[in-house]
Amino acid sequence: MDVRGLLWFHKLKIFTTGHRPPRNWLLLFFVSVFVLIALLGSSSSGAFNSGIAGFKPEVYTNYRRLKEQTTSDYIELKTFSSGTSNLKEIRLCGKEQEDYVPCYNVSANLLLGFKDGEEFDRHCDVLQDQPYCLVRPPRDYKTPLSWPVGRDVIWNANVKISKNQFLSSGSMTKRLMLLEENQISFHSDDELIFDGVKDHSRQVAEMIGLGSDTEFWQAGVRTVLDIGCGFGSFGAHLLSLKLMAVCMAAYELTGSQVQLSLERGLPAIIGNFISRKLPFPSLSYDMVHCAQCGVSWDQKDGLFLIEVNRILKPGGYFVLHGNSLSTNEGSFIEGFAHKICWNLIGRQEETLVWQKTTDPQCYSSSTQSVITPCREEHEDIHAYYQPLASCVAETTSKRWVPIQNRSSDSHITPAELEIHGKYFEQDEFFEDFESSRSALRNYWSLLTPLIFSDHPKRPADEDPLPPYNMIRNVMDMNARFGGLNSAFLEAGKSAWVMNVVPVNAHNTLPLIHDQGFIGVLHDWCEPFPTYPRTYDMLHANGILSYITSQGCSITNLLLEMDRILRPDGWVVLSDKLEWIENARTIATQIRWEARVIDLENESDQRLLVCQKPFVRR
Ligand SMILES: *[C@@H]1O[C@H](CO)[C@@H](O)[C@H](O)[C@H]1NC(C)=O
Ligand SMILES: *[C@@H]1O[C@H](CO)[C@@H](O)[C@H](O)[C@H]1NC(C)=O
Ligand SMILES: *[C@@H]1O[C@H](CO)[C@@H](O)[C@H](O)[C@H]1NC(C)=O
Repeated sequence: MDVRGLLWFHKLKIFTTGHRPPRNWLLLFFVSVFVLIALLGSSSSGAFNSGIAGFKPEVYTNYRRLKEQTTSDYIELKTFSSGTSNLKEIRLCGKEQEDYVPCYNVSANLLLGFKDGEEFDRHCDVLQDQPYCLVRPPRDYKTPLSWPVGRDVIWNANVKISKNQFLSSGSMTKRLMLLEENQISFHSDDELIFDGVKDHSRQVAEMIGLGSDTEFWQAGVRTVLDIGCGFGSFGAHLLSLKLMAVCMAAYELTGSQVQLSLERGLPAIIGNFISRKLPFPSLSYDMVHCAQCGVSWDQKDGLFLIEVNRILKPGGYFVLHGNSLSTNEGSFIEGFAHKICWNLIGRQEETLVWQKTTDPQCYSSSTQSVITPCREEHEDIHAYYQPLASCVAETTSKRWVPIQNRSSDSHITPAELEIHGKYFEQDEFFEDFESSRSALRNYWSLLTPLIFSDHPKRPADEDPLPPYNMIRNVMDMNARFGGLNSAFLEAGKSAWVMNVVPVNAHNTLPLIHDQGFIGVLHDWCEPFPTYPRTYDMLHANGILSYITSQGCSITNLLLEMDRILRPDGWVVLSDKLEWIENARTIATQIRWEARVIDLENESDQRLLVCQKPFVRR
């Protein structure tokens, strides 16, 4: 069976299990043919019964053949997944797609009529069906240095950056970059060179009334969204203070802030302020930081500031830094901030700090606030790239707790957990943590090439473990309560986790953020907003069943996982046997090393552990 046969098989599956409208007209075509065949088949078999003996319509036999073909495809799939395979491998993409990020094709967006800046926005719905191919690494790609060395030194060839971008890079967070032969060095340990960022951090701490930036944590500041982060140096410093800082910047063709940050092992995601909401729930960050971040805050009647207000927790801070603040923009922000109930609490040199009110009543008083509480359709569950809205969410929610009132516990307290009680039972939360904890132990011991040998390693076999800092950027594709993230923290691994909550799944994202983790909403039928080769490990529990229930293709999902996975990176999927076998067949076509692991209990759950090869044969 060739690849096309396999694709056909997938489309059939989509047709029979899908709840969504057909995603493209090719599928619509298949479906129509199917319906037509079924109609003709039934009417002609009626004719057959009414006495026209010997007449066997052509269409009917075709339908039969089709059905037999499908069945044999299925059997073939089963055979392949259980034995050696000679399925056709998926081809490599061209060199021009080395840094390919789907959904950001400006010329295609312009052709489709997007304008006024919206052509730079993310548009996945217009993604054309492209032939399947595997994004390949640049020719001189090298394995990134392991954490923490890799935070300060990266390989030039691994990222797309022009010489000009080096020389012209001037902002506080960018100017620290030096090129040393084939390496880019950030020198974050070097006090002399690094003082810009450290001074800035201390200054912000003082402006919010703290003695030093080591007190951020006690003051309730745990998660920071750094918009237009330069190359992540501010975030790197905050991480060293045990804060969770995530970089967010627009898609950039070269010199991408997101690509460089992730290459350094710092949390980052592509996102922008154009016309739609960020994929975060309301009340999710303690601080939003913008140092010459390229957003024109005075545009669109302040809608971008209203969006910042949405994601800020009560009592959270908005920090603005930079001389690019033109006088017009500056005076607009100062006037507008007051109207959305922010207090200017500090102004020093080029840095301004506002604090969001802790009093929800402020938004109901028409004398001050220009925005009022949102109607239901603008509440949280609808945050997935919906149009920006001029309102304030969750003012009556139990999650409206000032960050200054947080307990100084590093774990979430039962009282804090109680706030989320309407979404789930507390037991579920602790079970998720317990099972993630044991899962991490097992998975970690499996992450050695030994697992693919003739005498494969079993979970918890006594063997030298992989080094603790082998994996840095981790994505949990179906994060539930963030249990895997907690388990990584507890085990002291030097990793951070991007917690992804699929749209339509149980919305646990607020709880993930309230634990001081970072997470995003994402529709796994679409590509993830990141650059190729940015994660060391992708973990997903139940994502295959989920994607099938959404009527989307497992092949597309695994190809997308391949795109965002670093060479030599690991995939750990846990799911029902049926989907695991299916995924394993596709994994072989993607040329991953793959092994199905029996969990040694009675369940029909299996583990699929894969490694993306460094060089594709
Ligand atoms: C972007 O869209 C244009 C026009 O549809 C197309 O020709 C081009 O191949 C696309 N580029 C990528 C990288 O997909
Ligand atoms: C936060 O703490 C202050 C001072 O201790 C207290 O007055 C206020 O009621 C608390 N707010 C909430 C929502 O717990
Ligand atoms: C089998 O083990 C897995 C992983 O440890 C667990 O999630 C699952 O609940 C177990 N199933 C049964 C039936 O015990």
